[in-house]
Amino acid sequence: MRIGSLILKNSLFLAPMAGISDLPYRQIMKAFGAGLVFTEMVSANGLVYEGRRTRELLRSNATEGPLGVQIFGSDPDILAQAAVLVENDGDLLDINMGCPVKKVVRSGAGSALLREPKRVARIIRSVRRATSRPLTIKIRSGWDHSSENYLEIGHIAQEEGADAVTLHPRTRAQGFSGKSAWEHIHALKQRLRIPVIGSGDIFDAEDALSMRAGSGCDAVMIGRGGYGNPWLLRDILELEKANARPSAPSREDRLRVVLRHFDLHLEQFGPVRTLGEMRKHLCWYSRGLCGASSFRAQVNSSRGVDELRKATRAFFLLEP
Ligand SMILES: Cc1cc2nc3c(=O)[nH]c(=O)nc-3n(C[C@H](O)[C@H](O)[C@H](O)COP(=O)(O)O)c2cc1C
Repeated sequence: MRIGSLILKNSLFLAPMAGISDLPYRQIMKAFGAGLVFTEMVSANGLVYEGRRTRELLRSNATEGPLGVQIFGSDPDILAQAAVLVENDGDLLDINMGCPVKKVVRSGAGSALLREPKRVARIIRSVRRATSRPLTIKIRSGWDHSSENYLEIGHIAQEEGADAVTLHPRTRAQGFSGKSAWEHIHALKQRLRIPVIGSGDIFDAEDALSMRAGSGCDAVMIGRGGYGNPWLLRDILELEKANARPSAPSREDRLRVVLRHFDLHLEQFGPVRTLGEMRKHLCWYSRGLCGASSFRAQVNSSRGVDELRKATRAFFLLEP
């Protein structure tokens, strides 16, 4: 799999997810086989005008590469300046053109850009001039059902020099409701010469294979399906390679990964933030297991990381 000058070991990517895809999460997903991981979206204005605080989101280390850095904004010049500022923070640059969040859209960024194809062209042109890094954009199908224009936006991106396009085939108006329209990924793949990456509703290994077979996409991206389930990546890679799905992880297997995630988090962010963030991950890691609902209550009432870790060990090892 190749995107511009970047050669990747496979075509299974971790989605950029604000509030989720931080360094520890990416390290876990990388260990389970992700061929490319993405940062959370980072504000171009923040990078240009605030600097240090925004750069926190770009924390990285050598174990997780190759890394895609995602930026968002609406001004072509500022996005180009931001592209230069992050040039050494990752191996690939992605521009967010799909975020549906009100605050982002009100600033003219994210999915608001889908309503301004000319601006999209100006943005990609000016960022392309500013950096020689592989450049991708991530879009939705359109603003709403009556204005689906992913084919037009994808084509603009290609003509302005983008190296690949990721499509999450829902409109901005849909948010996360309904099902993602994988047939849009197929149509985009038919339209473009550059690689197309499919994102949306991959919750088990078979989903990934169906998206690939049905759409012909060059890579698939894992988002919510990876919550508490990095084994999904391993399962997809195994199913593709050996046509067999490995057995489900035992509680001990899960504990090992959870504790690793815990330690990576503590190392990066310290105990206060780890307590808050790991609560969410632990609820996901325990989903579907016997005793999960009382564990979740314990997780949410734990007052410190030591108490949380103790409860975690006891739950996964089924200790009384
Ligand atoms: C909590 C959350 C945060 C997200 N943040 C981003 C983001 O920062 N940038 C982006 O391009 N997409 C973002 N997305 C969209 C995902 O990258 C992905 O395209 C979408 O969730 C569909 O894939 P899925 O069904 O596999 O989750 C986010 C999605 C979720 C659920």
